[in-house]
This record gives sequence, C-alpha cells and structure tokens, in this order.
Amino acid sequence: MDAIVDTFAFLGKCLYYFLESAMYKIIPKKKKDVAGEIVLITGAGSGIGRLMAIHFASLGAILVLWDINEEGNMETCRLAKEKGDGQVFVYTCDCGNKQEVYRVADQVKREVGDVTILINNAGMVTGKEFLDTPDYMVEKSFLVNVLSHVWTYKAFLPAMLKANHGHLVCISSAAGKFGTSGLVGEYFTLCPYYSASKFAAYGLAESLYYELTLTKKTNIKTTIVCPFFIKTGMFEGCSTKYSFLLPLLDQNYAAQSIVNAILKDEVFLVMPKFIIFLLIIKEMLTPKMCLAFGKYLGMDIFMTNFKGKNLESKRRSN
Ligand SMILES: NC(=O)c1ccc[n+]([C@@H]2O[C@H](COP(=O)([O-])OP(=O)(O)OC[C@H]3O[C@@H](n4cnc5c(N)ncnc54)[C@H](O)[C@@H]3O)[C@@H](O)[C@H]2O)c1
Repeated sequence: MDAIVDTFAFLGKCLYYFLESAMYKIIPKKKKDVAGEIVLITGAGSGIGRLMAIHFASLGAILVLWDINEEGNMETCRLAKEKGDGQVFVYTCDCGNKQEVYRVADQVKREVGDVTILINNAGMVTGKEFLDTPDYMVEKSFLVNVLSHVWTYKAFLPAMLKANHGHLVCISSAAGKFGTSGLVGEYFTLCPYYSASKFAAYGLAESLYYELTLTKKTNIKTTIVCPFFIKTGMFEGCSTKYSFLLPLLDQNYAAQSIVNAILKDEVFLVMPKFIIFLLIIKEMLTPKMCLAFGKYLGMDIFMTNFKGKNLESKRRSN
C-alpha cells in the first residue's frame, strides 16, 4: 500500500515540476538580488572569471577575487570597480595549494566576512596526450581543477550551513561529461587529465548538491556549469567542424549565461544546448557508433592546432 501511495506522490510531483519548468519557459524565473552578497570567484584574473566579476560588480555584490596571476587579478579589480560601486577584495592564491587556500580563506573571513556565493572557476589544461604529460602536470590538473573545490567548499560551507544561506558554483566543462578530444591512432585521448578532473569536479558538486538538498534539506543552492569551448584563450587554436551545431562560445555570452543561471538558482547549465542531445545519444549508441559520430562532429581535430595558455610550463619538469 505504501509503495502505491509513494508512487502516486512521486508521479504527482513529477507532473508538478514538469509544469513548473514549462511555465518558466514562458514566464522567466525571477532573478535573485545579490546586492551585498559576498561573492568569491577563483581564477578571476582573466577569461570568464573576470567577466563574471564585472557582472556581479554591476549587481552590487561584494567581490572577493582569487587568482595565481596577481597582475591579471588587479586588472579585473580595476574593471569591476569601474562597473560597480561595491567593494572589491583581491587575493593572490594558488588554488592548487591546500595550505595556501586555507590560509587565504581565513584571511577573507577576517577581512571581508563569510562568503555567500562561492564560484570555483580556476582551471588549467595541459593539452598534452596521456603519456606525454609529466606527472607533476597530472597532479596539478587534479589539484587546480577539482581538489581546490574540496578545500574551498570545506573552508566556506560551514558558515553557509550555519546561516542556511549560500550558493556553490562549479565551473566544470563539457569535457566533464564526455571523455573526448584529439585523436591519437584510433582513440580519442587528448587532455585526458583535464577531462578526468572535470568529471571529478562535476561528480563532487552533484554529490554535494544531493547531500545539501536531499539529505540535509538546507537552503544552500548549487549551480554546475558544463560549457563547450569558450573563446577565452584557454583552448587557443581549437576549432570545431560544424559550428552551427557546436559553436565556440563567445566569452561574454558564456559569462552572462552563467551569472543568469546563478541568479535564477539553476542547478545545471550546459552550453550549447546541443551538448544535452549528445549526452542522451551517447548512452544509446554503441561505442563504434559513438566513434563514428565523434569523427562526424570533428572531435578528432578539435585540438589539432591547440596552443592554449600553459601556466605550468615554467615550473619544474618531471
Ligand atoms: N575556455 C573554454 O573553452 C572552457 C570550456 C569549458 C570549461 N572551461 C572552464 O572555465 C573556467 C575558466 O576558464 P577560462 O576559459 O576563463 O580560462 P582562463 O585561462 O582565461 O582563466 C583561468 C584562470 O584561472 C587562473 N588559474 C589557473 N591556475 C590557477 C591556480 N592554481 N590558482 C589560482 N588561479 C589559477 C588563471 O590564472 C586564469 O586567470 C576553467 O575552469 C575552465 O576549465 C573553459
């Protein structure tokens, strides 16, 4: 009897949520007010981190900007101050260094207050194939692209839980949903560590989302973002075969879409929407069909001319 009641309750909820989401397509969801919220953005020194900072500044948020690149971060601070009249705090922090993350997080709590919107955006890509990637770069990819999220969540989540108020944002990637990229021999292998670390960041954020909403029933929001290539320079040189299906995203469009998703408390943002179609058919096709489809979409040549920004090239070699 319980199973029947549960099933009907579940089906009722599904219908309600379906109608609710259909309604939001017609009447857009109200955006939340972030004036006075303390927004921390990692990797704010360039690309979409910088553009998101400028958007949040114009909305009256108090900004905390982290980046390993002090110069770029200072420039973001200048641009954000130009856009808004809110306060901007700048910290040089290597998000791949646990001690540094905890130390700077404590400093932020003392000097600014409790972070209420945490955007884990800092990221790096090596652009090398599996065997050509030195071990320190493998480790660094995981440190920056996913372990830094663990440390920032641990540093800032307790205050959010106490206030039952906050928002965790994970900038993953379409490469966090597909193990794809350049073609070596017959196998898609490029940037395996980037893809693996972005899968991990996605899995971590989604699991935390379920813990916070399903288990702990808190009011803390989550947004997980999976974009295809964005024209920020991170994947400089990459190209796409059918740009009407998989366009390289304009960085202003990408940043604005992420900010909108945060303001509307959207849990998942996948850009462009065609990626959702690819995700569905990936589960339906056989591996050989997937390879053929990947080749049709030009996945084998995405990274052929990759130049990127190799942040770690000056550091110690393996
Ligand atoms: N550009 C794309 O095509 C694309 C696609 C999907 C996802 N993403 C993700 O979006 C995020 C932003 O990327 P972007 O395109 O703006 O690239 P970007 O290179 O312009 O910005 C990345 C920022 O992270 C900073 N950073 C790197 N390592 C750091 C570290 N150890 N500590 C602190 N800061 C560090 C860099 O200095 C830089 O300012 C990344 O997580 C990236 O993986 C990018």
